[in-house]
Amino acid sequence: MVEPPDRSIRLDSTTSSLPTGEGIIIDIGTGDGVFVYQCARQNPNKFYIGIDANPRPLEKISEKIHRNPAKGGLTNVAFVQASVGDLPSELDGIADEVHVHFPWGSLLRAIATGDREVLSNLRRICSSGALLEVVIGLDPERDSSELERLGLQSISTAYLDSVLASRCRDAGFEIFEKGEFPSQEWPRLQSSWAKRLKDSPNRQLVYFIARVIE
Ligand SMILES: C[S@@+](CC[C@H](N)C(=O)[O-])C[C@H]1O[C@@H](n2cnc3c(N)ncnc32)[C@H](O)[C@@H]1O
Repeated sequence: MVEPPDRSIRLDSTTSSLPTGEGIIIDIGTGDGVFVYQCARQNPNKFYIGIDANPRPLEKISEKIHRNPAKGGLTNVAFVQASVGDLPSELDGIADEVHVHFPWGSLLRAIATGDREVLSNLRRICSSGALLEVVIGLDPERDSSELERLGLQSISTAYLDSVLASRCRDAGFEIFEKGEFPSQEWPRLQSSWAKRLKDSPNRQLVYFIARVIE
């Protein structure tokens, strides 16, 4: 079971993992699966599912988890190829935590604009009391064409308050924590993209954590 959220539940800068004890954690847009793999090693009592529309970056790690445990194999991880717009019904109601880290492309569009269908899909895979953590990193200059495509100037905590909070609420999530993350702390996040992007000083990293509305 997930502990009831309180002020002690916040993004942990060393793990990017929420302290929910045991349970099933789903990482959407998992990329190369490093977040899922590292967390699964550190939390053998939790089961991790990494989901991405693109299976290619997952080829190496998918092979690794099936090795002998002494050679990096893990029994508490699975990877699934799926789009956030078309999540398998087998996932319905099973997630105690859902993570979306550094979304890009259609995943970024859906999350940043609070797409009703995609937020409903995320809600659909959540169990009672589940938490949703989203981390978005955008550079207003380098990513200007992406921001233009989204019809946004930036994604700030003010934007979360004024736009995303109500769209999340409509889909059944209440944002209870949000903030910005200084770039010097990014390398500690267990995300390959956080490491890749760390040298872009203008990039803003905004996160929020929401809980399912019962
Ligand atoms: C910038 S990468 C971030 C990868 C990883 N979360 C990390 O932090 O290293 C964005 C990922 O989102 C995935 N993605 C984009 N659109 C998606 C969609 N509609 N459904 C699922 N995954 C998607 C991409 O394939 C890519 O792997």
